[in-house]
Amino acid sequence: MAKNVVVIGTQWGDEGKGKIVDWLTDQAAGVVRFQGGHNAGHTLVVGGKKTVLHLIPSGILRESVHCFIGSGVVLSPEALLKEIDELEAAGIQVAKRLHIAPTCPLILPYHAALDQARELARGSSKIGTTGRGIGPAYEDKVARRAIRVIDLFDEEKLQQKLQENVALYNVQLQYIYQAAPLNADEIFQQLQIFRERICPMVSDVSRTLYDMNQRGEKLLFEGAQGTLLDIDHGTYPFVTSSNCVAGAAAPGAGVAPQMLNYVLGIVKAYTTRVGSGPFPTELFDEVGQGLGERGQEFGATTGRARRCGWFDAAALKRAIQINGVSGMCITKLDVMDGLEYINICVGYELNGEKIDILPFGADAVAACTPIYETLPGWQESTFGIQSYDGLPENAQAYLRRIETLCGAPVAMISTGPDREETIVLQHPYAD
Ligand code: GDP
Ligand code: IMO
Ligand code: MG
Repeated sequence: MAKNVVVIGTQWGDEGKGKIVDWLTDQAAGVVRFQGGHNAGHTLVVGGKKTVLHLIPSGILRESVHCFIGSGVVLSPEALLKEIDELEAAGIQVAKRLHIAPTCPLILPYHAALDQARELARGSSKIGTTGRGIGPAYEDKVARRAIRVIDLFDEEKLQQKLQENVALYNVQLQYIYQAAPLNADEIFQQLQIFRERICPMVSDVSRTLYDMNQRGEKLLFEGAQGTLLDIDHGTYPFVTSSNCVAGAAAPGAGVAPQMLNYVLGIVKAYTTRVGSGPFPTELFDEVGQGLGERGQEFGATTGRARRCGWFDAAALKRAIQINGVSGMCITKLDVMDGLEYINICVGYELNGEKIDILPFGADAVAACTPIYETLPGWQESTFGIQSYDGLPENAQAYLRRIETLCGAPVAMISTGPDREETIVLQHPYAD
């Protein structure tokens, strides 16, 4: 049996998952997205050439790798086809290597319309969603009225479900949010074009993954978002609408939990967050600004500036425990170059008590005051370094302190956006 790896974000997303998934897939036969949708923005840089993926798994640049969209993903047909067209125009063959689960719920125009109308109505208490319709699409799934990929094969049923859902949501759009209603027939017509292209890519993903595993072919499960955005364990309600933790890879891909052998937690060397919600170690000074500039912290999906702050070991400890992280990959270490000192949050003061792990929910997190430990920075450049011994002593000390505080070993380090700018201490696929 093969060894399979799950890659997940341990913070508020954008940890550098895409880069690492791409790097690791030289070892994998298949890469699977198992949750989220086109709210994700995963950046790959190969030989200086940048590719941003939203729905298509980050193994697509490797010709021999098959890519899978599992049942846990909410799929926008429009976004998917746009992404395929862009990749194919750049000379990457996608359609023949992409396999879509028939059970994925679709994101349709009324989901995005509702997402945006609700955010507008929330005013200053908005969640800061990506506006892609992710939340409303998951609502439909749980309410058992979702239109799923499989419904594209049955014209009559598709038309009927569309009429019902559009009628339901037009009431909300018009009378609660004073937004424009949508037309079910127009959406149906659009879907006619999409279905011709999407249906040939639909297959029994769950079965294929089982068979590949039986044959000893290695798989990689690619998480989107991050643990602190998880619908259950994140800073609720400032979260996304899916489980982003490693365990979600089993139901989201349609595989048994025993197939998830190694969990690689992607950890940015500092913290960022895009959208609203509490962020205890957020910086509002020139240090935070410097991290944002050097790290080019702008959302890969919406282009919004990401909020930046110190590394939060107490939040990471929570992520390590919930995900069962086997090894950490510390990314963007180079962005920390040149700092005089570095703060690490080792716990919080909450209601007069000291705690050493992130509490649950937005209210408790907002009430936390971080407790910092200060380490010396380093002035040397770590950009592009490919061996651990080449790192400055203070950078090595920072990494060792993170290991001790968070309770997981550092398996990999990323020192630049390019595939090659990577240090491996313990290869996740090694026995
Ligand atoms: P993801 O959503 O977790 O895949 O991360 P994003 O792609 O949204 O954001 C990570 C950003 O950091 C991208 O622009 C990457 O190209 C870049 N990046 C990844 N690793 C490194 C690194 O080690 N150093 C630097 N400087 N940039 C990196
Ligand atoms: P990747 O995979 C960072 C955030 C949004 C918002 C919240 C809810 O690139 O790491 P949603 O549209 O999902 O309902 O928005 O979640 N968010 C992300 N933040 N990286 C992402 O994905 C994100 N996907 C969603 O900014 O705060
Ligand atoms: Mg991203």
